[in-house]
Amino acid sequence: MNDLKSLIIPDKVPRHIAIIMDGNGRWAKQKGMPRVLGHRSGVKSVREVTEAAGEIGVEYLTLYAFSTENWSRPPAEVTALMSLLVETIRGEIRDLNKNGVRLQAIGNLEALPKSSYKALLEGIEQTKNNKRLTLVLALNYSAKWEILRATRLLAEQAASGTLRPEDIDERAFENALSTRGIPDPELLIRTSGETRISNFLLWQIAYAELYFTPVFWPDFGKEQLFEAVLSYQRRERRFGKISEQLV
Ligand code: IPE
Ligand code: IPE
Ligand code: MG
Repeated sequence: MNDLKSLIIPDKVPRHIAIIMDGNGRWAKQKGMPRVLGHRSGVKSVREVTEAAGEIGVEYLTLYAFSTENWSRPPAEVTALMSLLVETIRGEIRDLNKNGVRLQAIGNLEALPKSSYKALLEGIEQTKNNKRLTLVLALNYSAKWEILRATRLLAEQAASGTLRPEDIDERAFENALSTRGIPDPELLIRTSGETRISNFLLWQIAYAELYFTPVFWPDFGKEQLFEAVLSYQRRERRFGKISEQLV
């Protein structure tokens, strides 16, 4: 694994990696275990990947932990996921601080169950001075919701006369998103073999490199993250230009 890490070019490490952590349920099913144990094992991967991201100098790591659509799952699974969230945040604060990780969150957070919301705010508050890596949890998140909310906010400002419609540019729009101040992810990873975006960061991934792996989230660790970063570093990001124009 150290070999893989040594192949990573430090100057070309993505500043921001976003991950759709998928496959916990299938991982558990394959082992004849209840789905919830898959989610529990997934926490191990979160820990390992956060550590690995910090080691190679990633500045922002955004993890899709619960989508707005996930409320449609069986109530027992939703409840288990919400308790796991509280338990994990509370249990990890000490290590987050030790490793210089600042916790943040995006999504419709106020609509989370009270205890989850409270644990989340505590985690954010208690890690706010850390500087090494920002870990952004996407919770009760939906990209369409986020884009609509931004649109509404800008419309309200325009209607009240504090914003001229002609001043709505990319920057103004980005400042109205919940990812305000966070650079767009250069690399988006999805585990478990699914090749869809599932309403994640639609605006922000406009030019991200996409990396899909069949590995289920509980089996995704340091080595798999390094492989994804190496794949990213082998790609040519042209941004509409042709190869010869790139320096
Ligand atoms: C991802 O794993 C975790 C969440 C969506 C909360 P899944 O629970 O979606 O696992 P699969 O896709 O059913 O295997
Ligand atoms: C996407 O995974 C959401 C999270 C990883 C939190 P899902 O498993 O919910 O996505 P779909 O339903 O397969 O698109
Ligand atoms: Mg899934």
